[in-house]
Amino acid sequence: MRKHFYLLFITGIAIILIACSNTESKEKPTLKEAFKNKFLIGAALNTGEISGKDTAGLRILATHFNSIVAENCMKSEVIHPLEDQFNFTLSDQFVDLGEKQDMFIIGHALIWHSQLSPWFCVDENGENVSADVLKERMKTHINTIVGRYKGRIKGWDVVNEAILEDGSYRKSKFYEILGEEFIPLAFQYAQEADPDAELYYNDYNEWYPGRRETVTRLIRTLKERGIRIDAIGMQGHLGMDSPTLEEYEETILAYNKEGVNVMVTEFDLSILPFPKAGIGADLSANFDYQKELNPYTEGVPASIQEAWNARMLSFFRLFIKHADKISRVTMWGITDQDSWKNDFPVRGRKDYPLLFDRDNQEKPVVQMIINEAKQ
Ligand code: XIL
Repeated sequence: MRKHFYLLFITGIAIILIACSNTESKEKPTLKEAFKNKFLIGAALNTGEISGKDTAGLRILATHFNSIVAENCMKSEVIHPLEDQFNFTLSDQFVDLGEKQDMFIIGHALIWHSQLSPWFCVDENGENVSADVLKERMKTHINTIVGRYKGRIKGWDVVNEAILEDGSYRKSKFYEILGEEFIPLAFQYAQEADPDAELYYNDYNEWYPGRRETVTRLIRTLKERGIRIDAIGMQGHLGMDSPTLEEYEETILAYNKEGVNVMVTEFDLSILPFPKAGIGADLSANFDYQKELNPYTEGVPASIQEAWNARMLSFFRLFIKHADKISRVTMWGITDQDSWKNDFPVRGRKDYPLLFDRDNQEKPVVQMIINEAKQ
């Protein structure tokens, strides 16, 4: 009798505890609810999340986010490793996952000089292919990938990082062989492959006036030629000192004036010192490890954390202020553990650039951002 009573008592307590914890997690406000009428809130997914191994990351994704982008699995070196060979294993899983969770799915990136398949722009002797051959290869690449996910992937980074800070074009293989024309061509092929998908140009450090002006000219050129461009992606790989809010805002306003949406596409705020100013997301930048460049291995001091919180919050405040111009804000990863910033631009550091920590816990700034969105 006593034993039964004891069992009943324990079961009762357990039920109450489970009920309480459920209510608590259900009631805790989430980012996607907070931004519901403002913009989509997205995250870049890595292999761990796409394959389902990172269950903690996936829980955060389902709770807080309503859009996803492929961090690496759709880059040409992964998805199209040889001219006659595509590899859709991860990208298919990525799209399936997004559909199951009702996410706005973004493809990244169709034409990009980096993480480019070695065969793409050269012949068997390593010489640049002719303009006609490159056009054909771009067309097949874009048609096959965009066509495969037609109607399922809702927006594409069609061209990534083609313009430099001074406003000139990056001297990539695409540019060497086709000149500026490679960009309109890529947009045209993407539009033909899925006329309903949104098409974006994406770049970093767009607060540099030169780059901003050339991107603005690009929007005009595409529009004049009747080629659709729906939005400009502003990668948000920010540091503690740069850019200023005003610089970032100026670019949002400039693009908005051209009649396109703005998207904050790759947002992370590095807490670590940059070895050199203006690196942005230039993947060719690589610096040797030095202890002074990795100051917070044992955790971040309170005053630095506060400064980071304030800066992160002020950027979200800016996005909220311009919610009528911004269609999506995407974090470049879910937790600090995932972040590419741990290895860029210096390998092997410990950075803290995202909204969720290494233990998969929400950082205090998340609820501050949510409160801001409610006001
Ligand atoms: C980064 C990924 O996060 C890393 O995992 C990878 O090793 C290198 O590329 N600009 C972009 C992204 O458009 O695709 C880059 O992503 C970061 C800079």
